[in-house]
Amino acid sequence: MEPITIWAQPSKTLTLASGEIHVWRVPLDHPSVSLGLLSTYLSEEEAARAERFAFLRDKKHFIAGRGMLRVILGRYLGATPDSISIHESAHQKPYISAISSKPPLQFNLSHSHGLALLALALDCQVGIDIEKLRPEFATSKVAEQFFSRQEQKELLSLPPANRAQGFFNCWTRKEAYVKATGKGLQVPLASFDVSLTPGRPPTLRAADSDRWTLFSFCPAKGYSAAAAVEGKGWSIQFYDWNVSPDS
Ligand SMILES: CC(C)(COP(=O)(O)OP(=O)(O)OC[C@H]1O[C@@H](n2cnc3c(N)ncnc32)[C@H](O)[C@@H]1OP(=O)(O)O)[C@@H](O)C(=O)NCCC(=O)NCCS
Repeated sequence: MEPITIWAQPSKTLTLASGEIHVWRVPLDHPSVSLGLLSTYLSEEEAARAERFAFLRDKKHFIAGRGMLRVILGRYLGATPDSISIHESAHQKPYISAISSKPPLQFNLSHSHGLALLALALDCQVGIDIEKLRPEFATSKVAEQFFSRQEQKELLSLPPANRAQGFFNCWTRKEAYVKATGKGLQVPLASFDVSLTPGRPPTLRAADSDRWTLFSFCPAKGYSAAAAVEGKGWSIQFYDWNVSPDS
């Protein structure tokens, strides 16, 4: 298992200094999460998308995720959650327009089984991924489909007891990178390698490796997560969402 990450309680006023990455952990099913209130923050497009989910649980997670994303962004921007315009790039990566004279706030969101992570950075691309550890999914057949040859080899070299963690280290690191580039699955998954051995620092080998820093961490027991950030020398801080959205 990766070392447990310490999640701090944020102060009321939030500032993101250059050189800092903030990662927020947001529980999507917490009883203090008021879906009624959060849904009032969504744009028309987001509300319409929420209605299109086939399963109620997915609809609720989308509303909670987007609603809390808006609340948190609002606290950094000094804006109300419903006033923030969230756009989508050509490959559907959400972003907000720069506010004149300030370095643009970049963010990325990921959710898995009721837990969401939000990564924020100033003026650089960021990608984040969280996955629940599901040993039944972490098979060599799935690895053959999604991982590079080097990654498959490294996975098979692990003792069987470490393979599920190694598998999800690989999965989250690959996802964090393709999400940071903004291209998602347009980036061929076999065209780059990440390291995956539990307990070792994450590394990326890609045509543009020098451009990125990769972080790997444990967001909660039974989950794995990674973030990819453009540039080097970042300090990363972890914050827990523990207040009701109207406080
Ligand atoms: C859409 C994709 C960017 C992430 O999907 P995912 O891992 O299933 O879902 P996550 O919860 O991590 O991320 C979804 C969020 O990423 C953001 N997102 C969407 N498109 C994005 C893009 N092109 N780049 C970065 N972020 C994107 C959105 O905020 C989205 O959540 P929202 O619409 O509810 O706000 C894409 O990489 C994908 O389809 N992945 C499929 C999974 C896969 O096969 N992975 C192989 C790993 S080896």
